[in-house]
Amino acid sequence: MAWNTVSLDWEGTVATLTVDRPDALNALNVETLEAMLEAIAEAEDEGARVLVLTGAGDDAFIAGADIKYMQDLEQDEAMAWGALGHEVADALAAFNGVSIAAVNGYAFGGGCEMAIACDLRVASESALIGNTEIDLGIIPGWGATQRLPQLVGDELARRLIFLGSRLDAKAAEEAGLFGEVVPDEELDERVAELAQELAAQPAMALRAAKRSLNQDGSQTAGLEYEKQAFASLFGTHDQREGMAAFVDGRDPEFE
Ligand code: CAA
Repeated sequence: MAWNTVSLDWEGTVATLTVDRPDALNALNVETLEAMLEAIAEAEDEGARVLVLTGAGDDAFIAGADIKYMQDLEQDEAMAWGALGHEVADALAAFNGVSIAAVNGYAFGGGCEMAIACDLRVASESALIGNTEIDLGIIPGWGATQRLPQLVGDELARRLIFLGSRLDAKAAEEAGLFGEVVPDEELDERVAELAQELAAQPAMALRAAKRSLNQDGSQTAGLEYEKQAFASLFGTHDQREGMAAFVDGRDPEFE
């Protein structure tokens, strides 16, 4: 499918979703959020093992939700708008494979929220990230009050959201918000390398690991889920092959 502000490109089983609204530093409007939903579904339908989310150009990952669109919304409209953003963030979090945010510039507000909905984050040295919504008289609307504390801890998440702090890449890495930071010119190559490494992992095991890690109920329920997911992998090609290869002293050939 073709979209005006989003593209989906393939390299083997790695799909890259690029948000492309250069006039608005890739800020997200309704059209773009709807296109992202379609693109994520297409990547999943076509069997992507890894989905990379990034922004077009050199300046921005996603500069947030579109403020010009939001400024005059009534509460019922804001409810629908928030729900649409949540739907996209949830689709990234639940993606049936690994999602990686390649953070190549500004990732403010809703941009930060899309990044932290992904499984992993790799950033360029010049990236800036933060939940800056408080400066607009609102709060994060696409998941940060729930996802940010899980990444950086409760006290720091409160400080970042209450103060609208903008972190540079190094500070974000130290806070646990970025998994790794690389020189700007190496971002694409590093993300491609990581994505291909993940795509070569046994897919069913990777998905089961992700679903177990994503359990957000009680620990007891999560442990029960893990128990079931662990058992469900026995008898799969990759489990038999992985263990046979170990016993035979050779490299496994996963599906
Ligand atoms: N929404 C709409 N337009 C945006 C935008 C946004 N979030 N961010 C940037 N733009 C537009 C600017 O209005 C400008 O357009 P014009 O040329 O038509 O005026 C263009 O992109 C370039 O932006 P700047 O001239 O401001 O570029 P800069 O380099 O001087 O500054 C910036 C870059 C620091 C990122 C600055 O643009 C900025 O602070 N943007 C807003 C960031 C923000 O607050 N994001 C959070 C939004 S709230 C949210 O996301 C709510 C939620 O949780 C769902």
